[in-house]
Amino acid sequence: MDPLQTAHLGPRKKRPRQTGTLMASGPHNIRFGDLVLFILEKKMGTTRRAFLMELARKKGFRVENELSDSVTHIVAENNSGNDVLEWLQVQNIQASSQLELLDVSWLIECMGAGKPVEMTGRHQLVVRDPPASPNPGPQKTPSLAVQKIPEYACQRRTTLDNCNYIFTNAFEILAEDCEFRENEGFYVTYMRAASVLKSLPFTIISMKDTEGIPCLGGRVKCIIEEIIEDGESSEVKAVLNNERYKSFKLFTSVFGVGLKTSEKWFRMGFRSLSKIRSDKSLTFTRMQKAGFLYYEDLVSCVTRAEAEAVNMLVKEAVWTFLPGAFISMTGGFRRGKEIGHDVDFLITSPEVTEDEEQQLLHKVINLWEKKGLLLYSDLVESTFEKLKLPSRKVDALDHFQKCFLILKLHHQRVDNDKSPQQGGKTWKAIRVDLVMCPYERRAFALLGWTGSRQFERDLRRYATHERKMILDNHALYDKTKKTFLKAESEEEIFTHLGLDYIEPWERNA
Ligand code: CTP
Ligand code: MN
Ligand code: MN
Repeated sequence: MDPLQTAHLGPRKKRPRQTGTLMASGPHNIRFGDLVLFILEKKMGTTRRAFLMELARKKGFRVENELSDSVTHIVAENNSGNDVLEWLQVQNIQASSQLELLDVSWLIECMGAGKPVEMTGRHQLVVRDPPASPNPGPQKTPSLAVQKIPEYACQRRTTLDNCNYIFTNAFEILAEDCEFRENEGFYVTYMRAASVLKSLPFTIISMKDTEGIPCLGGRVKCIIEEIIEDGESSEVKAVLNNERYKSFKLFTSVFGVGLKTSEKWFRMGFRSLSKIRSDKSLTFTRMQKAGFLYYEDLVSCVTRAEAEAVNMLVKEAVWTFLPGAFISMTGGFRRGKEIGHDVDFLITSPEVTEDEEQQLLHKVINLWEKKGLLLYSDLVESTFEKLKLPSRKVDALDHFQKCFLILKLHHQRVDNDKSPQQGGKTWKAIRVDLVMCPYERRAFALLGWTGSRQFERDLRRYATHERKMILDNHALYDKTKKTFLKAESEEEIFTHLGLDYIEPWERNA
């Protein structure tokens, strides 16, 4: 093929494809003529590229040897969107906005399926905004296959592999400090910064990498710059050494202790838990008493194995009374986390009377009490009203019936082989949250209780500001149509909101 002909990839015109004639490969039938692939050799290597090209052709894909005008999809491995663009620029080729830049994972999935699979955000290579050119011509060619990083966490896929931990950890500490000082504004600023950085598929190594990323204001960028240069932020260091921060962090680690109590103890001059515990003048709530009593167990996080053991306990108890009930583990464990501060469950059942529904958690708690497994319980009755509009607040608490518990989990239920140690404690105290919701609200409740908090906040913000809708843990209301939008599944809620579906393990914003 004439390389000169390949030099320009302008806006694509529809034209009859010269099927097969340009291909150097053997006699493979082209089954998917609408796609014309080009596989980038850079970072993939010649052998692997040749292998993939041959395989794709065997499966009926049209694969070009060289980049030409007819190419519709560029497939690359270990390259970012920007890497590919840079490569194109070096070849003196302008990418048209219709050109798809895809990761090799897309091709591999296609090979598995034997046909083109849908391209989703996880396949598309992200192109960060290129820096504004010094003199942008008035009629610049429409730029590139730019896939901008969206502003709301619910538009991004955030898995647990965070390649910017060094930055996100810093921002979470700063956010927590703001929370302790009830500085809502900066709390949000830092949490949004941490959240967007968690979603990036690359590590920030220079300030250039931050260009075009939303939610990074001047203050945030200064901190990023300092961490890049010095490996740490002086502001974070100061917070970690701050008396108030250290005390609040310690006090709020006790179940039942919030900002108000921490403030009180801090002002009274307390700096350690042992002094507080033994002070005769202080009074504690029932919750705080339990918090001190089981402190060591509760601060050592819940493992996935323990969560699964609790799952069994919950199923055994719930199904004793309502065999048809659905039980979903929600919260962090549903998002794929390996540890958590508690285990969260959503329970719902079709075809039950309101009475049966209301009684279930009471019966479950009584059963555990009788078995000696209940260390603490606080049951909150439902205040749910079917016709009430969803709450506009991003952090609103929900109205379903729920209970906050501490359960006794015997080691044996976690690890069958583990023989009880002589004389030692044979169980661990575990925080468990159970929520009971009406069957027709289960999708909203599940979405709301899966988290993360930041993801939920942005879902609600997105609904309000981008869709004129109100979303909470109970319902979705369309203000324009003045109707409630029903949903049987989380997917349907995303569809109502006009959002791509984000899997639970991609909600770790
Ligand atoms: N949630 C809620 N209303 C509450 C408490 C929690 O809607 N009153 C939701 C939050 O959106 C949160 C989820 O339920 O994301 C689970 O809450 P929580 O257990 O506090 O957080 P996790 O994400 O599970 O984190 P961890 O692993 O530390 O438990
Ligand atoms: Mn949880
Ligand atoms: Mn919880």
